[in-house]
Amino acid sequence: MQDKTVIVTGAAAGIGHATALLFAKAGARVLGLDCNPSIIDSGKDIPGFSGIVCDLKNIEAIRKGLGNLGVDKIDVLVNNAGINPSPSGLSDTSEAVWKNILETNLTGTYRITKEILERMNRGTIITISSILALSGAKKNAAYATTKGALISLTRAMARDHGPAIRVNCVCPGAVETDMFEEYLNRCDKPEEERERIRRALPMQRLGKPEDIANAVFFLCSESASWITGQVLVVDGGDTA
Ligand SMILES: NC(=O)c1ccc[n+]([C@@H]2O[C@H](COP(=O)([O-])OP(=O)(O)OC[C@H]3O[C@@H](n4cnc5c(N)ncnc54)[C@H](O)[C@@H]3O)[C@@H](O)[C@H]2O)c1
Repeated sequence: MQDKTVIVTGAAAGIGHATALLFAKAGARVLGLDCNPSIIDSGKDIPGFSGIVCDLKNIEAIRKGLGNLGVDKIDVLVNNAGINPSPSGLSDTSEAVWKNILETNLTGTYRITKEILERMNRGTIITISSILALSGAKKNAAYATTKGALISLTRAMARDHGPAIRVNCVCPGAVETDMFEEYLNRCDKPEEERERIRRALPMQRLGKPEDIANAVFFLCSESASWITGQVLVVDGGDTA
């Protein structure tokens, strides 16, 4: 990854942070975007990392952030930022909640990807979906909808932008991050739920952010040079 410039959205925490760290260790220049101002401090342990505070809901903020950094040639984009507040079935999902989730997970990805495509002649784009896009998750109507749409976007873009740009998708299972802890905290017995999920997995352990970062890294590497438009499930065997 020497001389490569890599953009990771949602890099302040969890999967995005682990991904930024892995690319930086491999010698890339890594730019992390996050709406949380902690992106500035959280990148201090990452060599060659620059953090940009910007909300993917705000196109002007995205343009300003990229402009300030003088970013003109991007090799890798990792669309990782996502939210899943107040998960619910469709009947219990207000229009405001629906719009908020679509605006971040789907339209936010559209916005940043369009900006980056103007700066990417050759490269790879990875979008983080979820196994909830594949398995018909309960009480996750809006979130699962966005994650399914991201898979469709991945396939459409692979056709539109090949051969110069490869576009792939990673679907994580249960990974221990803030988002997962928020899910557990909504359960009556969080630790019992954690253990229930862990024991049901063929691999008998929950995911670490690094498990997903490693898959993203592989898909961006030369070893994956004939892989595009694909969905790589990384879930400890949850969907097996
Ligand atoms: N943790 C899991 O179990 C799991 C499973 C499947 C998929 N995912 C997906 O992986 C991705 C990363 O999840 P995570 O678990 O690391 O979550 P996380 O909540 O720990 O981190 C998400 C990051 O995205 C940032 N973000 C959110 N909205 C943003 C916006 N509008 N603009 C800029 N930044 C924004 C947050 O500030 C945060 O730093 C998400 O897309 C999530 O849906 C996670």
